[in-house]
Amino acid sequence: MSYGGVPIIVLKEGTEDTREKEAREKNINAMLAIAETIRSTLGPKGMSKMLVDTLGDTTITNDGAEILKALDIENVAAIMMVNVAKAIDTDIGDGTTSAVIFSSALLKNALELIEQSIHPKHIITGYKIATDKAIELVNEIATKISKDDDKILKDAAMTAMNSKDIAPLKDFFAGLALKAVKKIADEENTFAKVGNIKIVKAAGKSLKDSELINGVYIQKEKVNPAMPDVLKNVKIAVIRKKLDVVKTEYDAQIQIFKPEDIQGFKNQEEKILQDYLKIFKNMGINMIVNNKDISDKFGAYLARENIAAIKNLGDSDMKAVLKAIGAKQIDDLTSLTEDDLGYAETVKFEKIEDDEYTFFTGCKNPKSVSILLKGGLDKVLNSAEISLNDVLSVIAKIIDTQMVVAGGGAIYIELAKKIKDYANKIGGKEQIAVTAYALALEEIPKTLINNAGLDEIERLTELRAAHKTDADKWIGIDTITNTIGNNFEKGIVEPAALVTHLLKSGSELANLVLRVDRIIKASNASKTGFQP
Ligand SMILES: Nc1ncnc2c1ncn2[C@@H]1O[C@H](COP(=O)(O)OP(=O)(O)OP(=O)(O)O)[C@@H](O)[C@H]1O
Ligand SMILES: [Mg+2]
Repeated sequence: MSYGGVPIIVLKEGTEDTREKEAREKNINAMLAIAETIRSTLGPKGMSKMLVDTLGDTTITNDGAEILKALDIENVAAIMMVNVAKAIDTDIGDGTTSAVIFSSALLKNALELIEQSIHPKHIITGYKIATDKAIELVNEIATKISKDDDKILKDAAMTAMNSKDIAPLKDFFAGLALKAVKKIADEENTFAKVGNIKIVKAAGKSLKDSELINGVYIQKEKVNPAMPDVLKNVKIAVIRKKLDVVKTEYDAQIQIFKPEDIQGFKNQEEKILQDYLKIFKNMGINMIVNNKDISDKFGAYLARENIAAIKNLGDSDMKAVLKAIGAKQIDDLTSLTEDDLGYAETVKFEKIEDDEYTFFTGCKNPKSVSILLKGGLDKVLNSAEISLNDVLSVIAKIIDTQMVVAGGGAIYIELAKKIKDYANKIGGKEQIAVTAYALALEEIPKTLINNAGLDEIERLTELRAAHKTDADKWIGIDTITNTIGNNFEKGIVEPAALVTHLLKSGSELANLVLRVDRIIKASNASKTGFQP
């Protein structure tokens, strides 16, 4: 509820009211604590975190989004900050840690200004002015590329991997990821199609054995060993119906009075399954994909007719198969039409190490590809999968937007310099807030420097001094070689969209948190039940 922009608060018995300054401080401090948790993971020299779930399973990752998902956070403002990070993960696929570092720096600087008696409303206005200017500047200084510029696309993929465990194989995976994205590239929105790339984790000797496959792989074996190993020109029915002689679902209740009725009942059941079989045969269907069970007996019937089948598919496998073969899933077999069926040139059943897979190729939808991620340990595979998702998104985002900037802090140092200059032209109380915004931008290069164990003041001063003219805009730090130079030329590049998203969401969050002048917490408020 709000009145003239001022929130009206209704207090219930047992509620706790924390006023103005204290409320803000409490919120901002909770956010700073979250930022501290993930700050050390930023960049190539960032550290990983070991996440332990309630069952004791562990994942080792330095992916901001994954770490934030694992935190149990109660403070509402901190939850809002995590949501900002999740939003950048959804819209860009990378940059979560940076978004948290930047937003928390904006709020930390705001808190200091409030302590110097600058009213939050001036900070909000100053931040808004600075954000608009910074976004304008990114659009101005970002480098426009062609979506066929494979060198830059690959560089961006490798930059996204620099901070991940798969960095030693970045060249190999960047090539693989680029090929995969090119397969699904769409004139309008390639980013939205990244989901068509199915990552399948399989046992193997090393990650280096991973491969790109035109088609869909799912970890399922055929229902009956007598079914063919390879099928050609495959007409596929995707169904959601239990195919079981004993437990077939009946609509009506059946009453049995005489022993002969039992045989009659069994015959009737048998007849239903025979009818299903007839439907499949008449339509020339040679493969069944089912998300429910298929009994051994019915499996044997199918095998006898040379029809292959896989059963009990999970939701994500169902989705991937449906999309690839262009089928519609159906519940009522009697209404099955030609139109519902999917198609693949070949379906193959094969064993990789100890696991059985079904592999669909030459699908109706040629844009379906799988990355078969191979490796020995589950932890290695999981961490590689998380990183690869970031990489695929980054490539797709650049294909869609065709604008890139140099990483390793270059873009933030350049923006900070220009925003500081801009602040001088503004004057008034807002000027101080605009300068505070510029300093928050420097928090990203600062963290990269710190995480590399380098001297923060020395290197930051060096970076600032190196940005003399517009031609120096891409000078940043490379914390792999610990050198300062033109990061664009070194191939350290990222989507400009990542930076604009981070700028926008950071200041939106600051705006929200600064406007809160009270925390009202109902005595039984749960973390999801309370909305500011
Ligand atoms: N060689 C390099 N030297 C310095 N900085 C680099 C280098 N390669 C990448 N970076 C920087 O590392 C930062 C990205 O780090 P990281 O991937 O850990 O965080 P994120 O992308 O913000 O979040 P997340 O990947 O966890 O969602 C970017 O600022 C990027 O420019
Ligand atoms: Mg990243």
